[in-house]
Amino acid sequence: MLIDTYGRVATDLRVSLTDRCNLRCTYCMPEEGLQWLAKPDLLTDDEIVRLIGVAVTALGVTEVRFTGGEPLLRPGLVGIVERCAALTPRPRLSLTTNGIGLARTARALKDAGLDRVNVSLDTLRPEVFATLTRRRRHQDVLDGLAAAHAAGLTPVKVNAVLMPGHNDDEAPDLLAWAVEAGYELRFIEQMPLDAQHGWKREGMITAEEILASLRTRFTLTPEGEDERGSAPAERWLVDGGTARVGVIGSVTRPFCGSCDRTRLTADGQVRTCLFATEESDLRAALRAGADDEEIAALWRRAMWGKKAGSGLDDPAFLQPSRPMSAIGG
Ligand code: GTP
Ligand code: 5AD
Ligand code: SF4
Repeated sequence: MLIDTYGRVATDLRVSLTDRCNLRCTYCMPEEGLQWLAKPDLLTDDEIVRLIGVAVTALGVTEVRFTGGEPLLRPGLVGIVERCAALTPRPRLSLTTNGIGLARTARALKDAGLDRVNVSLDTLRPEVFATLTRRRRHQDVLDGLAAAHAAGLTPVKVNAVLMPGHNDDEAPDLLAWAVEAGYELRFIEQMPLDAQHGWKREGMITAEEILASLRTRFTLTPEGEDERGSAPAERWLVDGGTARVGVIGSVTRPFCGSCDRTRLTADGQVRTCLFATEESDLRAALRAGADDEEIAALWRRAMWGKKAGSGLDDPAFLQPSRPMSAIGG
């Protein structure tokens, strides 16, 4: 079991498969991209499956989510999913993706054992998409979403970040579209995890503002706390129906007290938190020949040191040196 000194138990593992991405979202990374990890530093497919195996069989992890950068850029993704689906007990398997290329791979991922996907899409307007992501790939994302839905990678969730002056007027339109298409939409407060260190609290659209904007067109009824569990998203039922909308208010409505996450970076470091300032090197242990029990012990020790919260409200808060794209969101 991965328990920390606050009694939280991590059962949800997020695995970053690459730090690379084929978009350049302005709230994430600069136009020129970043200094990517070198190939020898990346875990191999075998190493990733081995570490996930330890997490699932020895440490009580029940959910594994593949992230990036953009995880569809990892050539071995389908094989990794297939091997994870063969673990006992079988973990639930999901993917967080920008959707580009998903139209081509959704069926193979489903067949390999992937359960569901979360797809990032911030706008319904192709021009705004091109400005926000610096790439003209809006239709690819829509096609990816449709393919995921058709392949049964459900519930398909859509993640949207609202940026002032770009898409902050679009919340109700996005919700109307998502309800119609059968996707579960979640809005995410912008977090200080961008590579450029350009985040400002004043420039962020808050959960409160998002909800006010949605309420101009919809009636929102809060879902019970029981149903939330340790999910980052707070959810509301839309117009008394069965459709839901979520808000992930990491900055103004933190949920650290019920956090159930542990993270593995593409270069084999355990992170206890998105905002952690320290990491534990499982890759070094693995490559030095550690056995499963030694790896499990290192992972347990890392999680025992997990801090109470993100530290975002601390005046001395320092952004972690790795950006979101290298942590895996
Ligand atoms: P579900 O299992 O579908 O609820 O997934 P999720 O919402 O946890 O995952 P997803 O990858 O879609 O992440 C959505 C947003 O939540 C991203 O911006 C993540 O960075 C953020 N997020 C995920 N886990 C955490 C967390 O532990 N802490 C904080 N602050 N944000 C998180
Ligand atoms: N703040 C909030 N969300 C972010 N994402 C990427 N960078 C940030 C940030 N700085 C979102 C992506 C994706 C999800 C994994 O995180 O848009 O939907
Ligand atoms: Fe957990 Fe850190 Fe996220 Fe808080 S900010 S919920 S402690 S990972």
